[in-house]
Amino acid sequence: MHKKIILLPGDGIGKEVTAEGKRVLQKIAELFNHHFEFDEASIGHHAIEAAGTPLPDETLSKLKNCDAILFGAVGHPMYDNDPTLKVRPEQGLLKMRKELGLYANLRPIKLFDELLHVSSIKSEILKGSDILFFRELTGDVYFGERGRKDDRATAYDVMIYHRYEVERIAHKAFQAARTRKKKVTSVDKANVLESSRLWREVVQDVGKQYPDVQLEHQFVDAASMRLIQNPRSYDVVLTGNLFGDILTDEASQIAGSMGMLASASVGDTVGLYEPIHGSAHDITGKGIANPLASILSVALLLDISFGLKEESEMVIKAVEKMLKEGYRTADIADSDTDKSKILNTQKAGTIIVEQLSKLPRVAHV
Ligand code: IPM
Ligand code: MN
Repeated sequence: MHKKIILLPGDGIGKEVTAEGKRVLQKIAELFNHHFEFDEASIGHHAIEAAGTPLPDETLSKLKNCDAILFGAVGHPMYDNDPTLKVRPEQGLLKMRKELGLYANLRPIKLFDELLHVSSIKSEILKGSDILFFRELTGDVYFGERGRKDDRATAYDVMIYHRYEVERIAHKAFQAARTRKKKVTSVDKANVLESSRLWREVVQDVGKQYPDVQLEHQFVDAASMRLIQNPRSYDVVLTGNLFGDILTDEASQIAGSMGMLASASVGDTVGLYEPIHGSAHDITGKGIANPLASILSVALLLDISFGLKEESEMVIKAVEKMLKEGYRTADIADSDTDKSKILNTQKAGTIIVEQLSKLPRVAHV
């Protein structure tokens, strides 16, 4: 198989973790006789520094002409501390999602047994949790009208959804539920928000086409509580852009660390794969970032964009083996961890690549 992959390392630890994701892709190509062609493009703070814009046209045209994108992270503390700055790294990410029509963000909350004790949530509550979030990604308050009133002392962001936006992601969620435990929990705030009442109405309508899938609705405040009270009660969670952003950071604690969570953004054309964590400037350059979220994003890329199921499963198995053998990055280490098995970013990537070589495989011709 011949595919073109664009690497978008972005800012902070994005560079460090994406480098390990790339090594895993190269190893898979070698083992299965695929040809993956790589190119890099700039986004975020780096791009602002170099070109004055967080998503240069050159980047966008590369992204529109490739088979998959592996993205790292964007952001820089200088913007967080200065809300008056007009050009911001995150604008590049949002524009890219919109321009590429990436309306469905899949965030699987996969809990590896070996990490049961890493979470601050009790293991008997966590055990067996397996949730797949469908976060809508190109609508909501993220893309509604925003601004300041003339007095500059009043600001607004409009939360807006159109029927078609809810319909298309709802279909994706129901279809995914069919391959899992056949349950969709739709999360909204329909007791207060009109956009949530439309959301609920449309999800109910779409749900009628999937009578074999159980549909329940929850308010976002209740869902945020139930998520850590009884995570096993969820299968597929379908929600809007803002609620999905918040709930998936919360849900990362089920998996033990933000450093473990991968995501796939899909829609009209090309797929984009990225860790759910941010640029983490507090640890940038120290070489201690966990590359597993990027590596697990590679597993999603192989499966969803390229249909390479066996290759994808092999990457997940390699992660499982690494954890079984006691290797950890700092964020997922605990008091039981053998200190000599705490790995830096590159060593963790190396262990995964080595595991891939050792795992049994059937070569594709
Ligand atoms: C995410 C991030 C982004 C978002 C930021 C960086 C704009 O938090 O992908 O979850 O809010 O969508
Ligand atoms: Mn987020």
